[in-house]
Amino acid sequence: MRIVLLGAPGAGKGTQAKKLVEKYGIPQISTGDILRKAVADGNPLGKEAKAYMDKGELVPDSVVIGLVKERLTRDDCKKGFILDGFPRNTAQAEVLDKVLNETNIPLQVALCVDVDMEILMKRLTGRRTCRQCGQMYNIYFSPPQKESVCDKCGGELYQRDDDKEETIRRRLEVYEAQTAPLIEYYKNKGILKTVEGTGDIDEIFANICSILGA
Ligand code: AP5
Ligand code: MG
Ligand code: ZN
Repeated sequence: MRIVLLGAPGAGKGTQAKKLVEKYGIPQISTGDILRKAVADGNPLGKEAKAYMDKGELVPDSVVIGLVKERLTRDDCKKGFILDGFPRNTAQAEVLDKVLNETNIPLQVALCVDVDMEILMKRLTGRRTCRQCGQMYNIYFSPPQKESVCDKCGGELYQRDDDKEETIRRRLEVYEAQTAPLIEYYKNKGILKTVEGTGDIDEIFANICSILGA
């Protein structure tokens, strides 16, 4: 299965992608996660990316496209993949189509997780992530049993640098201006599906599975 997850910051792309990984055994390719790892490692790529991420702007296409191209050539993508946070604009979408068409493995579904803008701010300011296993929590909607400690592995929970109100506002603007047009892009290709992204996480996942026909 070759899927792109579309949706605003905080829509639940990462949350649902992790569940898809467990169920289908195909990798999640999150450009945000890849970039955050580069930032944490302090390598040159991370240093360049951090300046954009902290402002809520997109990292230049030249950087991100290279990362994704490389990632897609790895063996674990042979069975399929879940792209989360890529493509983010029309230029990225066009390059992706070109790369996948060249190898005869076009995208099958672009799944848009649809959530009202008003809910997103609370989801993002409340998000906490496990440093060790990546499990996501939300202090308002799905808090851990013990404050700042992961239920699954006991790891420490942290707040993302770009989950500050001002930066979130900019990320939402950038989404509207640059990423939302991809909904039309994939509709025109005939592969757009939409799932309601508000409500119980497991119910949303069940709906996604039925949309994907599996
Ligand atoms: P990225 O990491 O992709 O962030 P994003 O798009 O802003 O999306 P998020 O990860 O914030 O939201 P999500 O939809 O994954 O939601 P989540 O599941 O975590 O990008 C970060 C930055 O990297 C960008 O700003 C840019 O600078 C750069 N970048 C990345 N990709 C790029 C690209 N292709 N090109 C250029 N630059 C790029 O859920 C959010 C919260 O809500 C969590 O707390 C979760 O527990 C909670 N939640 C989830 N579902 C529910 C539910 N149903 N009910 C209640 N709470 C829920
Ligand atoms: Mg995410
Ligand atoms: Zn953990």
